[in-house]
Amino acid sequence: MISVVKKAIIPAAGYGTRSLPITKAVPKEMFPVWNKPAIQIVVEEAVEAGIEEILIIVSRRKNVIIDYFDRSVELESHLKKVNKSHLLDEQEPPAVNIHYVRQPYARGLGDAVLLGKSFAGNDPFAILLPDDIIVNGKTSGLSQLVEIRNKHKGNVLALKEIPLERLHKYGVVKAEQKEESLYKIMDIVEKPLKDPPSRMAVIGRYLLNPDIFSYLEQVKPGAGGEIQLTDAIRMLIKDQPCFGKVIEGKRFDIGSFEEYLALNEYMYQNGQKS
Ligand code: G1P
Repeated sequence: MISVVKKAIIPAAGYGTRSLPITKAVPKEMFPVWNKPAIQIVVEEAVEAGIEEILIIVSRRKNVIIDYFDRSVELESHLKKVNKSHLLDEQEPPAVNIHYVRQPYARGLGDAVLLGKSFAGNDPFAILLPDDIIVNGKTSGLSQLVEIRNKHKGNVLALKEIPLERLHKYGVVKAEQKEESLYKIMDIVEKPLKDPPSRMAVIGRYLLNPDIFSYLEQVKPGAGGEIQLTDAIRMLIKDQPCFGKVIEGKRFDIGSFEEYLALNEYMYQNGQKS
């Protein structure tokens, strides 16, 4: 995919409270989706969309993510010795530069993304939330946003229609329809407790201009007392165009055990391909 967006931020610093007790020991991002950790599927999605540099925001208890994407020298030499090197070669994570930064305090998604300010510099960048696994689109979730960016410029958010009773868990947009699955975002509200502006919610893929950082620096704690990315986007869209693309494909929230199990069932039924 040809894209001017070469950088991506993957926030992976949360406590995973919805998935306790397992997340006391295993970060949600490392939950197996068939034989790969969820975060690898998201990294592969980024690479497919043309991303060359990734910044993963981790926290103290997430070193296993850093280890996973590193080489395993002992394992490599063991497999070589027993003539089974192919086992690792077939399973190699994608070749992409991955950088890490730790979020010292769990202050929310907006605070995590702000840690990527110097990584992004003056470049537009993607955000992929590893809770959201998107499968079965004609092209991957992020590639669908890149297509919109290439055509219309501007910021782009991934959207899905969500049942009314679950909208309070999402960033919900007010939007004007432009084309079949393309909207112009007019407003956005994080986790509306009542009167959501539509049924269209943001699912965890974003393409943003670096101007978002100056808004993130101004944002005050919002929903849940956290610094919300949505609140910064709300300010950004007053100054620059922002589009919403209704994503083709199925989306599973692995923070919900029902959806996590459904995703693995989907992998099993569909030949384990994302
Ligand atoms: C985050 C965002 C929210 C978005 C959601 C998608 O919320 O803040 O706007 O709709 O991801 O999964 P979280 O799920 O981290 O509470």
